[in-house]
Parts: sequence; structure tokens; C-alpha cells
Amino acid sequence: MSNVSAVRPTHKMHVTATDPLYASGPLVADRVGPSFDDRPYERFSVAPMTPTIGAEVDGIRLGGDLDEETMAELRRALLEWKVLVFRDQDIERSAHRAFASKWGELEEHPFIKYGKYPGQTDADVVTLERDVSVAGIENNWHHDVSWSRAPSFGAVLRAVEVPAVGGDTLFADTCAAYDLLPDAIKERIDSLVAEHDWVPNFGKSMTPDVIAALRPDYPAAQHPVVRVIPETGRRTLFVNTNFTQRILGVSEAESNELLTLLYRHVQRAEFQVRLRWRKDTVAFWDNRTCQHYAASDYYPQRRIMDRLSIVGDVPVGIAGSPVAQEA
Ligand SMILES: [Fe+2]
Repeated sequence: MSNVSAVRPTHKMHVTATDPLYASGPLVADRVGPSFDDRPYERFSVAPMTPTIGAEVDGIRLGGDLDEETMAELRRALLEWKVLVFRDQDIERSAHRAFASKWGELEEHPFIKYGKYPGQTDADVVTLERDVSVAGIENNWHHDVSWSRAPSFGAVLRAVEVPAVGGDTLFADTCAAYDLLPDAIKERIDSLVAEHDWVPNFGKSMTPDVIAALRPDYPAAQHPVVRVIPETGRRTLFVNTNFTQRILGVSEAESNELLTLLYRHVQRAEFQVRLRWRKDTVAFWDNRTCQHYAASDYYPQRRIMDRLSIVGDVPVGIAGSPVAQEA
């Protein structure tokens, strides 16, 4: 693997007050930062899906019995590619859980109502069953549970049943997106903090009494707009359309301007990979370094996924200290 050199778009772009970033020009990002331990993988093969995000990993069967050398290579591959895709993993739910557990403590999502797949016996694996009764709730770009003080490290999703076509998941590389921001924008956002909250999203289907009852356990959180990944020092954008409410310490107009600009930038095609699922495809994404979007284009067909997520840490900004005090 060798890094491609970054071609910064700033001098090529026609910057306007209303649309400063959405102009044509090269968007060629580094896949990893300078401190990345860049060595070949020996335990499996890696086939890139795009220049910076997403790779198909072949040659291993997922489970709890992967040895430490393989896990170390997988940790390195996840940092490099942000999304790892494993095909033809007709594994038991217990193996799915054992694999996810090797990455850290598993967590539950407090609001999403999980369906139970017929025959499901392992209560620790949650099944997302999406059909006409639960349509279109994940087709917004987001980092999972960014409203939490310590958002998920990542998630491991296995396709149980997929439509013949449709139901793809898209991922966006928020490290590449940060790197290719003009310096003037970086200077504006590097030390800013944003508030994230679940109420305007999950709370839409709740009564005020239910929201009030949940609030003490699930307060809003404050996170750096630019997050630093501890293992690599890499910077990544950490605001998203689902949960980020506002940037603190600036006017509402400036907050809206910056968030709109950043969202549009992250959503540019050059930062994306689009995963077409097959039955028994497993996707494992680093929730810190990418956002995702589940396309809701397949109803009335069904899409059933087994999902596990892994506890993450409190985001740290460039200044080096967490800001995730509860709002
Ligand atoms: Fe999600």
C-alpha cells in the first residue's frame, strides 16, 4: 500500500459565499495519516473499494477464534479503510457476537426497536428487520449515537436477508473530508464544539412525558467538531445531520452556515463508498472515521440485518482534552 498524495482543492475552487465547497476540481485524499504503520497484510487479502474508504477482506472466517496476529492486522486494516467488508460469512450468531466482542464491550441501543428474526436464539445479537411497517428511518447521514457521551466505536452488521436490488449502505470518509477542507475553513472549525441530541430524531415518535422520563439518562452531549483518533492522531469531522443540533460559541447563523457547508462537503461522492449487500455479507465500520446512510429504496421487500455495536470512547479534540460534558 502506498499513499496517494493529496491535491488540495482550495486553489482550484471557485469559492462563493453561498456554496464555498461544492465546485468541481480534484478531491484526492490521503487514505491514512503520516503515522500509520504501513505494512502489507499477511493474514488476509484486501481489495480496495475506493481510494480511501472501504475494502473487501478475503481469506478469513469471522468468529471468536481469530488469533492475535490476525486481530492486529484487522485493527490496522480498519484504521486504514474505515469500513471492512467480509463476503460469504454464513456464520452463527454466536460467532458474530464472539467476533464483535474481540473489539470491546458490546452495547445496546436504547431507542431502536429491534425485531426478532424467527429462530433467533442469541439474545445478544439484535436483528434489524425493515419492511413496510418500519420504512426509511436510517436514510440520513450519521455517526451512530453521536448524542451519547461516548458514541459507539463501531458496528458489525451481517446481512440475513436482502432485497434482490436496493437497500445498499453508503459510507462517507470523514477523515478524507476533513483533510480536503480549505485551510480557512479548518481554522474556523478546529477548536469548535457542537451539541448533539437524540430528541429531535428519536423523540419525534415519543410523547413529551416519555422524553422527559428518558432525559436524565440520555442528556445531550457536546463533542469537538474535529475529532482526533487516538491510535493515529488522524483528524476527522464529527458532525452529522441526524444528531448535531448546533455549534456552540458562534451565532445561530454561523452555526447553520458551517454545518450546512460541512454536511454538503462530507456528502461529496469522492468521499463515499456504496456497499451492495449479499446474504451473509458482514460490514464492520469504524463509527469514528466515517458516517453511513442506509438507502430506503426497496420496500415492500424486506431487509434483515443482525447488528452488534461496540462501546466507544469519549471524543477528543485537537486541543487534546474531551469536551463531552453533558449539555
Ligand atoms: Fe446507523
